[in-house]
Amino acid sequence: MNNPESSARNLVLVGFMGSGKSHVGQRVAKSLGFAFADTDDLIEEAAGKSIPKIFAEDGEDAFRERETAALEQAARGESQVLATGGGIVTRERNRKILRRAGYVIWLVASRETVYERVRRNRNRPLLANDDPEETIRVLLEEREPLYREVADLEIDTDDLTLDETAFGVAESARLALAIGT
Ligand code: S3P
Repeated sequence: MNNPESSARNLVLVGFMGSGKSHVGQRVAKSLGFAFADTDDLIEEAAGKSIPKIFAEDGEDAFRERETAALEQAARGESQVLATGGGIVTRERNRKILRRAGYVIWLVASRETVYERVRRNRNRPLLANDDPEETIRVLLEEREPLYREVADLEIDTDDLTLDETAFGVAESARLALAIGT
């Protein structure tokens, strides 16, 4: 499943909120000896405020503009694990950048798993409403084809611990990026 558009300089993690991108990404970066970057962190650094605050004060469109800028900046790097926000695939421009940035792994999580993982967390403005379960259902349906479109590899994380997921991701990346050969 190699991606011909990519020169595979980085490992990129995509997937829905709660799929474990940031946690897994940090572990995998350590294991590969890669740097770690997270578009959500880059956005917060550039804006000087938190993601919930950006959504509340500037709106989702402004957040998405910042997200594209953060992705463009990060995609210029090499030998890094890049974790991305769950909505990054919604823009076509971002999907192009993702495919060129490196080897892309989609951490797949079911609706039930996502809900279990995110329900106690208040940092996700898109789920701060009366029916987060329904929001998850609708957004997952919209986004699943888009994750699939950019991904070189899909890993189903429902029955895996973060450690197990990180192991699978790291080994797949070692092969795909020919690390240590
Ligand atoms: C979003 C996911 C979040 C963050 C923002 C919007 C989304 O990132 O970028 O709250 O649209 O799914 P995580 O996937 O890291 O939670």
